[in-house]
Amino acid sequence: MSEPTQTPRTEPFKAPVGTRDVLPPESARWQALIARFAGQVGRAGYGLVQSPMFEEIGVFARMGEGTDVVRKEMYDFLDKGERHLALRPEGTASVARAYVQHRPATPWKVWYAAPSFRYERPQAGRYRQHHQLGVEAIGSTDPDLDVEVIALLWDFYAGLGLRQVELVLNSMGTADDRRRYIDDIRTYLAAKLGELDPTDAEKVEGHPMRVLDSKRPVTIAAIADAPRITDRLSDEGVAHFERVQAGLRALGIPFRLEPRLVRGLDYYTHTTFEFVSHALDAAQSTIGGGGRYDGLVESLGGPSTPGIGFGSGIERVLLTCDAEGVFEAPEQRVDVFVVDTAGGDSARDLSVELRRAGIAAERAFDGRSMKSQMKSADRSGAAFVLIVGTDELADGTVTVRHMVGDHEQTRVERAAVVATVAALLSDLTLT
Ligand code: HAM
Repeated sequence: MSEPTQTPRTEPFKAPVGTRDVLPPESARWQALIARFAGQVGRAGYGLVQSPMFEEIGVFARMGEGTDVVRKEMYDFLDKGERHLALRPEGTASVARAYVQHRPATPWKVWYAAPSFRYERPQAGRYRQHHQLGVEAIGSTDPDLDVEVIALLWDFYAGLGLRQVELVLNSMGTADDRRRYIDDIRTYLAAKLGELDPTDAEKVEGHPMRVLDSKRPVTIAAIADAPRITDRLSDEGVAHFERVQAGLRALGIPFRLEPRLVRGLDYYTHTTFEFVSHALDAAQSTIGGGGRYDGLVESLGGPSTPGIGFGSGIERVLLTCDAEGVFEAPEQRVDVFVVDTAGGDSARDLSVELRRAGIAAERAFDGRSMKSQMKSADRSGAAFVLIVGTDELADGTVTVRHMVGDHEQTRVERAAVVATVAALLSDLTLT
């Protein structure tokens, strides 16, 4: 590998194409979203899993050799030890690999909030690094687990205030059902090759199911009478799917059956689902998706073990929140701002003492003027400003100014100021 060149740049660096920085105050919204998700899935018994951001490439190949994610979009590379690795394009394969490696007790229920990398054509809501909130539940074939997982995501969106989200549901049946259907659909499409859009025609051999959810009008017209997977499910496939639908109905979760819902990854069996936002442009309107993957763990070298989960893109969820005008960024405010015009020692010490007492405290730097420091105090949203000028310093006091209400000011002994502020703040929260 050649050494990086050190030619001076005329242009400043920017984040790579398809990636973005998330800065305050927007990042506070991310934090709040993740905390909400963690709380909700935590109450359902899901624990946080942290897996590496890269894996041996073979882990991801199990998502389907014919899929775009594997064929075209993988960020893969050889490391300095000549290992062929890839950045994680999604969370499920890594979690399944971790299950195989550690073999925890089942059902193993975990959640993650993690970056994923796909070399896609960037556009609004489609990035090369995106972030997924997800859960995976490994070790049970019970269709009520499918219901639990879907209900978690439905309730998460509802809790954010989203109202224009639709749940779209399908079933791939058992692994055998799926295999048989792929053969049927390949035969059906092969007879229509000339009628399909050329881009879709190319997929018939390797990934025929993907043709079913083509958005190209020529293809849509040509395959109007394509066989539906849900008409061809085995008794086991039908029974599983009916129990899932009954569960969703019992919980008051509306859904639309869509036999052409084909997810972009190959590991799905039985239940598959997507959540579509009608407040977003059609191209990026899927805000979450998932399903069962009863063969994935085995394909990664583990024992035959079922699993189900979902992933939901943080960026797309927040775009949907914007479009629906819900879940605004929480206000970032501190409790106290320390203004020091007497040399800076008080600001230095008091801000740390306050924080040690659990009080959110800010201060200014660089020996700014009283006016400038008061402006920063205003902007910080602090309920109280502690002022130390030369008078206060001389008599060992601090002026406490109330920023809400009547802007009352009192002088307090320096030694008592932290306790005084703590009491004032607890009065505020009580009123
Ligand atoms: P996926 O449908 O490929 O499924 O991705 C899940 C979600 O991630 C999408 O619905 C979307 O919100 C978001 N997403 C995907 N790609 C991008 C992108 N390039 N830019 C922004 N957001 C994106 C999976 O990844 C499966 N692992 C889900 C799953 C979990 N299935 C079972 N368990």
